[in-house]
Amino acid sequence: VKPVLIAPSILSADFARLGEEARAMTEAGADWLHLDIMDGHFVPNITFGPSVVKALRPWSALPFDVHLMIGPADPYIPAFAEAGADRISFHPEAGPHPHRTVQLIRSLGKAPGVVLSPGTPIAMVEELLGDIDLVLVMTVNPGFGGQSFIESQVDKVARLREMIDKAGLDVRIEIDGGVTPETAPRVVAAGADTLVAGTAAFRGGPAAYAANIAAIRGNG
Ligand code: DX5
Ligand code: ZN
Repeated sequence: VKPVLIAPSILSADFARLGEEARAMTEAGADWLHLDIMDGHFVPNITFGPSVVKALRPWSALPFDVHLMIGPADPYIPAFAEAGADRISFHPEAGPHPHRTVQLIRSLGKAPGVVLSPGTPIAMVEELLGDIDLVLVMTVNPGFGGQSFIESQVDKVARLREMIDKAGLDVRIEIDGGVTPETAPRVVAAGADTLVAGTAAFRGGPAAYAANIAAIRGNG
């Protein structure tokens, strides 16, 4: 069994002090930093692009887990790789050729991941499972932090875990959206091994980050 990794989403950080926030989360014991990239087109919100990822790079030695909510994704992937992304996940609906997107991320030496929105079936990633490092299962609709956990996705996680294990593959299952100390144990029991948390990780400010992470990990 893989240890559960915690990836705080800086979407919930203080955007005026992003560098300090990334450093504080790193010192608080986060495993990865999750960076949500939104284009106002694929999702109804806008965040930041490669230049902010690059500016953050000196503030943390943790893997940068870049979640692209942009369409199309391919034209921007080299810029995110160059900016310091270690893992790059994309939504297959951003199209048009998800397998080509996986090849592109691999060719840049980064770890590819495919994201399933709540309404997106497992079938969208099935043919790619042998070529990717991670499936990110969204437990909210993409676009905003602070939404509530969509319960129906727990069963999807269990079905995906079964599929991955049956095929003998080494693919992580990451959960994103509404992860709290209450919802985390349920998705972990269903087979998730990596948890993104925005609101639950950043609440209370820097003095609370270590306790927040411990609580999500189940050591609270
Ligand atoms: C939503 C983002 C999430 C978001 C999660 O589109 O992908 O990473 O930051 O925020 P919480 O944990 O507050 O649901
Ligand atoms: Zn995300």
